Amino acid sequence: MSLRNKEVEDLIFKSYLEEVMQKKKFLKMNRYIQHGTTTCLLHSIAVAYYSYRICNLLKINIHEKELIRGALLHDYFLYDWHAKYKPTRNEGFHGRIHPRIALFNARKDYDINEIEEDIISKHMFPLTFYPPKYRESIIVCLVDKLCSIHETFNKHAYTKLTNKVGETKKERRIISRRINIYN
Ligand SMILES: [Fe+2]
Ligand SMILES: [Fe+2]
Repeated sequence: MSLRNKEVEDLIFKSYLEEVMQKKKFLKMNRYIQHGTTTCLLHSIAVAYYSYRICNLLKINIHEKELIRGALLHDYFLYDWHAKYKPTRNEGFHGRIHPRIALFNARKDYDINEIEEDIISKHMFPLTFYPPKYRESIIVCLVDKLCSIHETFNKHAYTKLTNKVGETKKERRIISRRINIYN
């Protein structure tokens, strides 16, 4: 493995993020809350960023492109899961069905491969019966849970990260959006 510093890793992360963000639909995730005041967009960016950072820190050999893209799209379900009358209310429990919906949307909007599909469809394991197959999917599955706990107990989660990953002022504004459902 080549020696890289954090700045280089951040640039690599940003380049993959920029690519995914080209689709305006991806930014729609900032309309929906994930946990606490954190939007689905910020949650997905955080899961991708910290999954990537952890792999680099622990020197875990991964397909970085797949890890980042799969994590960015793991919650690409595009509805408010807190709403009483959500579009999927007749299809089952959100925790179990949303990976399938995210995968359906991701396949429609992006050219995704087997590793990325596995990351998206298995990230809710053990709620989804089949365990993650790849190293990348296992890491995202674990980091997703840690990020979810962090967001639930922290109203200002990822403040530094939002400033770091947004390239333009507009992007930073979109990423840093917070929603308070308790208002
Ligand atoms: Fe999820
Ligand atoms: Fe998630």
